[in-house]
Amino acid sequence: MDEKIIAGNFKSNFNRKETISYLNKLNHIKTNHKIFIFPAISSIVENNFNNITLGAQNCYFAQNGAFTGEITLKHLEEFEINTIIIGHSERRNLFLESDDICAKKFHFFKEQKFCIFYCIGESLEIRNSNKELEFLKKQLEVIDLNYKNLIIAYEPIWAIGTGVNAELNQIKDCISYLKTLSKAPIIYGGSVNEDNAKDILKITDGILVGNASLNINKFNHIIKEGK
Ligand code: 13P
Repeated sequence: MDEKIIAGNFKSNFNRKETISYLNKLNHIKTNHKIFIFPAISSIVENNFNNITLGAQNCYFAQNGAFTGEITLKHLEEFEINTIIIGHSERRNLFLESDDICAKKFHFFKEQKFCIFYCIGESLEIRNSNKELEFLKKQLEVIDLNYKNLIIAYEPIWAIGTGVNAELNQIKDCISYLKTLSKAPIIYGGSVNEDNAKDILKITDGILVGNASLNINKFNHIIKEGK
């Protein structure tokens, strides 16, 4: 298979010790795919692995300052992190990040030349009313779709953490539509596992894996395109 983006989003799992142990094991993997891991921010380590790029799941859009509880660019620079996820649905829904906040983050980190995984995705309600494409378009209206370090992650909310991945034709339809809007790589996330990864990789530029990335054997299988 051509080179794909294969990313693991650890969310709020694995402490530092567990993260380091995982990364040391994963770093031995031989693959032509591009591997990214997004650890919990307090588990972040120097971004100097040969075969893995580390990224931040979130960061405030400032160099540093009075933003109690947040981390800022200064904290990522210390670890040479220059990859970030913006707009994940858990940030949007649990932490009330609006399109406006996501846009501010996008423009700040674009200025810093970060590789940006920009997440979009519709709710079940929107999908059931057949409005997903216009919804996705609207979510993308606030960012620069020509930014050269952009990766668009299509993650339908109803498929995240539910064990119900989108069907291949649903993924295909959304990816084809998104390809008409941007030349950026388009990846898919939502209940990707070692059984469905290969088929999903065939029709996308990559995958963003949550739960299944927490098991290194499963993630290895995913990177090797299936069991
Ligand atoms: P799951 O793979 O656990 O559904 O999570 C997907 C996700 O949110 C990746 O960012």
